[in-house]
Amino acid sequence: MKYIVTSALPYANGMLHVGHVAGAYLPADIFVRFLRLKGEDVVYICGTDEHGTPISISADKEGISPNDVVDRYHASIKEAFDGVGIEFDSFSGTARPPHHKLAQEFFLSLYEKKHIQSKSTQQFYCEHDKRYLPDRYVEGICPRCGATNASGDQCDKCGQIYDTITLVTPKCKICGNEPIIRDTVHWFLHLDSFREKIRDWLSTKEYWKENVRNFMLGLLEQGLIERSITRDLSWGVPVPLPDAEGKVLYVWFDAPIGYISSTIEWAAERGTPDLWKDYWLDPSTRLIHFIGKDNIIFHALIWPAMLMGQDQRYCLPYDIPANEFMNLEGQKISTSRNWAIWVDEFVKEFDGEYLRYYLAVNAPEKQDSDFSLNDFQLKINGDLNNTLGNLANRVFAFTHKNFQGNIVHCALDEASQQLLTDIDKLIEEIENGYADYQVKKNTRLIMDIARLGNKYFDERKPWMVIKEDKEAVNETLFVCYNILAKISVCLTPILPKHCRVLRQMMNLPESFSFGDAYGIAANCTVLNETRPLFSKLEDATIEAQILKLKQSQAVSNEQQSDNLPPEASKATITYDDFAKLDIRLAKVISAERIPKTENLLKLQVEIGDLKRELVAGIAQNYSPEELLGKTIVMLVNLEPKTIRGITSQGMILASHSDGKINLIVPDKGGVSGSTVK
Ligand code: MF3
Ligand code: ZN
Repeated sequence: MKYIVTSALPYANGMLHVGHVAGAYLPADIFVRFLRLKGEDVVYICGTDEHGTPISISADKEGISPNDVVDRYHASIKEAFDGVGIEFDSFSGTARPPHHKLAQEFFLSLYEKKHIQSKSTQQFYCEHDKRYLPDRYVEGICPRCGATNASGDQCDKCGQIYDTITLVTPKCKICGNEPIIRDTVHWFLHLDSFREKIRDWLSTKEYWKENVRNFMLGLLEQGLIERSITRDLSWGVPVPLPDAEGKVLYVWFDAPIGYISSTIEWAAERGTPDLWKDYWLDPSTRLIHFIGKDNIIFHALIWPAMLMGQDQRYCLPYDIPANEFMNLEGQKISTSRNWAIWVDEFVKEFDGEYLRYYLAVNAPEKQDSDFSLNDFQLKINGDLNNTLGNLANRVFAFTHKNFQGNIVHCALDEASQQLLTDIDKLIEEIENGYADYQVKKNTRLIMDIARLGNKYFDERKPWMVIKEDKEAVNETLFVCYNILAKISVCLTPILPKHCRVLRQMMNLPESFSFGDAYGIAANCTVLNETRPLFSKLEDATIEAQILKLKQSQAVSNEQQSDNLPPEASKATITYDDFAKLDIRLAKVISAERIPKTENLLKLQVEIGDLKRELVAGIAQNYSPEELLGKTIVMLVNLEPKTIRGITSQGMILASHSDGKINLIVPDKGGVSGSTVK
């Protein structure tokens, strides 16, 4: 069986944190190592995602070219991967010319088949900066959940994707001004024309992880909308059509094509330029995309449609194991707040395989998981040192001391045989676990095997038996030696380096396959020189890390409050300033949803005798019915503003926290029109 395994291409504008590795990289690397142990034919593909607005924004900010940003991050990201032993066959980048060429071919093939059509659309335009503002150049309030600081194309809070111009109170990210809406031409991918094909293809994917399947079935139910796949930007793959100046392909259109262009680069570098075709153009190849859950729609819907629309018959994704997120010390990992453990820094202080082990134990497979430094210490010391390390150390020490490192093959009594048979059953579970991406469960099963080994060693009391029955002790050691040999196979995908060292100390063959874990995994041997496999993490080391994490966050909070005053810390004002606000109690006399918006309501209110109409972005938290008759607090002398064709005269006051809107109401009731101060 041929496999193409991919990990989501990381954006070349930031470093990797532990959440990234836990989600899309380590599980893939482990899977690939497992497949290789099974003798499968695999290419493991990645590269950096080098287009997109965040990269051109970083470049603008630093006054350098996007290419410089990309080169810098490409190199450091690669280094971080090396530090945790993530070994791709190819790690390319999407700004490279062959990628541009292939991405343009993809576009044209879809265009010729009329799956892509142009359309005049509305787009934010900043009059100050004299440019269109694609998605991430704008931020505002999420039109779906009301979260603040939502970016132009996707809300980090609710994960929804929306049309940028539906953003509420938009702001240009470059200058902070409110953009206007202008007409511009863009190209759209008509997903709906793939509906039947996608449906058929999905119907063969019953084995997919539940989160991915359910998400997709939900999308199909909602109906497939056309998606804009071009942007007004200078950085990206140019739209290969006349009259498309200043337009580039949307980063999410070109990025997944990077999986193919990276494979093409791999084939060329090996001196077999056509080899990539053996994988990509064979419909029976198993194409497996490891991603985080925020990438599902692009991999399971848009990308397959793009592949279906090509003249070449590419294989389609066979599986898309999407992982959930990893939090850090109970909080969401946040790059902007610097609440993250950065892989490149972490592996300078700790063995990269300790990180692999902890991320595997704690893999966010079915639900979000939490990275905690204390727990990291607990797992490394408890599992690797006190359980597995202990088994190896005591068996080796005992063998050296009493048998000059010699263990000889011998007959096994019933208990010993039974133990090895029981362990083989666990190994079968582990094998199935790897095939089903269940890394977390496998770490537990492997530790169970080591615990069985320790228990057996204790029960056989070799330190006492040695005095009267050397042969019985040899049997104990032979069994334990076999258990360790089995572990050295099963644990290889997770801890390749340590397993190599273990096997070397045990004088086991360098090359082996997963099947070698079963039965008598090792015959007689003379141990090589041995030393402890793992070392413990001291309290002081962990405490220093915790401190470092907290300090870096504190620094970043300070910096942020310098740049952008958060709601809480605005400059002092005089009473006169405050007195300019005309705040009144008002009574809601009618309320209705504004069609085609997620969160806007049109309200009519009475302020004493006066009637007013206004638009309020509160539909996510309030239904029109529950507002009717309510007395609320309103700023009446706010400059009127036209929203969706309605002149909004005033603003109702509410508290905002965590994306939830809570209307302010008079504690003991009150007469509409009363002043508030
Ligand atoms: N760069 C994207 C992210 O980090 C992932 C791109 S995956 C690809 O979310 F398929 F588009 F390459
Ligand atoms: Zn601007």
